[in-house]
Amino acid sequence: MSDPVPASYTIAIDGYSACGKSTLARALARRLGYSYIDTGAMYRAVTLHLQRNGTNLAAPEEVAAALAGLRIAFRPQDNHVLLNGEDVEGEIRGLAVSRQVSQVAALSRVRRAMVEQQRRMGADGGVILDGRDIGTVVFPDADLKLFVTAELETRIGRRLEELLAAGRKVSRADVAANLQERDYIDSHRADSPLRQADDAVLLDNTHLGLEELVERGVELVAGIRTAKK
Ligand code: DC
Repeated sequence: MSDPVPASYTIAIDGYSACGKSTLARALARRLGYSYIDTGAMYRAVTLHLQRNGTNLAAPEEVAAALAGLRIAFRPQDNHVLLNGEDVEGEIRGLAVSRQVSQVAALSRVRRAMVEQQRRMGADGGVILDGRDIGTVVFPDADLKLFVTAELETRIGRRLEELLAAGRKVSRADVAANLQERDYIDSHRADSPLRQADDAVLLDNTHLGLEELVERGVELVAGIRTAKK
């Protein structure tokens, strides 16, 4: 039998929108008994906060003032994101937030605040974080870095299904436009653009079921010690 996985690793999962990163991260965290930090949910919560405040994104001092009044946390029992104590898990997944989140996530001020909080939350290890800059910026020394991809049509189909299942009225065209626009902005912004870290393992999720994807993740985690020797 292989040795149990130490409780201290830091695992970074990055990739494009709706490629299955969060599903993998959540399932892998459950398997390993690790905690899971959905950093995309944090940028979504900031976006909702700025929208509610009517903040002008082009005015740095307005953004700074809004950030000063912002507290983001995850509810331990179900990992729902809390914005100043309010459960906004449902609201942050809608198109209104999805349409603006990449603009908000491109603001350096916002990124600084989020990265700092993410480093604090992950400082003790035993954690899986998913996002766009985890392996490149937040935890460049992570024990394992995964970069997940999937073909665009697969990603559109999966995200559409998820949104329809959650009772949202969206069309395939809306979802397609949103994913492509976010991918473009996320990978072309000046501050911490989305890119695969040089030492990240590429996982193509186009034709994999969740079980297979998680098994592959577990194997890679088990291989960390071998790689470190
Ligand atoms: O993972 P997601 O689709 O919920 O993320 C929403 C947006 O947040 C994404 O389009 C880009 C931004 N993001 C980011 O810039 N950096 C991260 N670490 C995570 C998300």
